[in-house]
Amino acid sequence: MSKLTILRYPDPRLHTVAKSVAHVDERIRQLVDDMLETMYAADGVGLAATQVDVHERLIVIDTSDSRDDPHVLINPELVAKSADMVLGDEGCLSVPTIYDKVPRHARVTVRSLNRAGESYEFEADGLLSVCVQHEMDHLMGKVFVEYLSSLKRDRIKVKMLKKSRDEQRP
Ligand code: NI
Repeated sequence: MSKLTILRYPDPRLHTVAKSVAHVDERIRQLVDDMLETMYAADGVGLAATQVDVHERLIVIDTSDSRDDPHVLINPELVAKSADMVLGDEGCLSVPTIYDKVPRHARVTVRSLNRAGESYEFEADGLLSVCVQHEMDHLMGKVFVEYLSSLKRDRIKVKMLKKSRDEQRP
């Protein structure tokens, strides 16, 4: 396994719309393993392939406290979503140190392929529901800060560019 580089907002590649995974083969399973390693190393609860500059519909999630319950979502689709919404604090590995509120469906039903390429369906609520919607946005080229006001977003852009510059300084 190897750790992958996570793109940071406002990198334009984060706005790429992902294509469906054609075959769940060894290449995809390797990518799943590398994404899980990358997500755990960064202490994140979810990671979309878009964030590691691979533009295919693949997501890994682990919202468990024990960090040993990975969900692998390949070509995920929302087959149902609740009318009631929740407003939770969201963060993103591509927008480090920034947290803000985004409206999300309280519950969703997801149909997806797993790491073995088999179709499965599950219902999610709470943090898992929010996380699925956040990661599926990434696959559509959307970062959560795009739900915020343009004023806030511009401030975040400036902060992220400064942070990247500071980190690159020898
Ligand atoms: Ni994210």
